[in-house]
Amino acid sequence: MKPRYKGKHFITLEDWTKEEIDDLLQVSQELKAKFYNNESTAYLTNKTSFLMFFEQSTRTRNSMEAGIAQLGGHGTFLDTSTMQISHGESAKDTAIILSSYGHGIACRNCFWGVGNRYLREMAEYATVPVMNLQCDLYHPMQGLADLMTIQEVKKSTKNLKVSVIWAYAKSHKKPVSVPVTQVLLFPRYGMDVTLAYPEGYDLPDWVIEKARKNAEEHGGSLTITHNMEDAYRDADIVIPKNWGSWVRNQSEVVIDDLLESNRSWKCTEEMMALAKPDVSYMHALPADRENEVENAVIDGKHSIVYQEAENRLHTAKAVMVMTMGDK
Ligand code: CP
Repeated sequence: MKPRYKGKHFITLEDWTKEEIDDLLQVSQELKAKFYNNESTAYLTNKTSFLMFFEQSTRTRNSMEAGIAQLGGHGTFLDTSTMQISHGESAKDTAIILSSYGHGIACRNCFWGVGNRYLREMAEYATVPVMNLQCDLYHPMQGLADLMTIQEVKKSTKNLKVSVIWAYAKSHKKPVSVPVTQVLLFPRYGMDVTLAYPEGYDLPDWVIEKARKNAEEHGGSLTITHNMEDAYRDADIVIPKNWGSWVRNQSEVVIDDLLESNRSWKCTEEMMALAKPDVSYMHALPADRENEVENAVIDGKHSIVYQEAENRLHTAKAVMVMTMGDK
């Protein structure tokens, strides 16, 4: 399998054409089939991917680390608090040095106003592909796995009502990168996206403008509502998930009056009953159980969260295979 996008950075799916994304999805399916058949996928023998994390991770770290091993290469996990970054070493110097030691640099940096700029700076100086493992604005690895899962579960993505719904949670002030990625990506596949949130949890204006443009070009749509029930009603897919009020309030305080006034934004069986009978429940995970969602829903018959999480492995491998290669 040749790296058809060798050296191409994977920072946002907005930088990838629909044809390229389709190709990544096709490769993901091929790698998934080989994984189930125990077939060798040693396409990156002796290649090294550096995996830099400014934050915690379960799915992203392990899908990348297991993924590169299954491709015949090696992943080096880097907790950035133990790197010279914590003494102020620049993104530029880090990118140049790691480029000289291996074949790919992947990084999670979700700090608001910082993360994406950090990745872009690394990409400017790296001589190997830079892969975004989630920043303050985008989570393209998650978006790709979500799209793969939707295509597996639904016959067609055209005019599916997909509702991206804010939900109450108090575990930490989460980035907007998952809903931003979803509202930008799904209209490119003809989906009718409903974005629902209580006042105060807006996504950036430029995201909404771009999502509408993507919808116009590809036959999807974007509707914004502050009514949770409208989002659930007749939905084919619901994605209720918390995100922080970063656009309006950059404080890192997790629990504030605005959050507490919206405890009712929870995915319940009652809400799910408003959706289509074959509605699918998705969540990037980790879920704040019994706050964002009732256990009866996330553990119930509509939930496809484990399939969605598993697809993180296959899509991560596809991105690495297609972008990394010989020097
Ligand atoms: N969905 C996701 O990115 O999970 P982790 O934070 O565990 O990597």
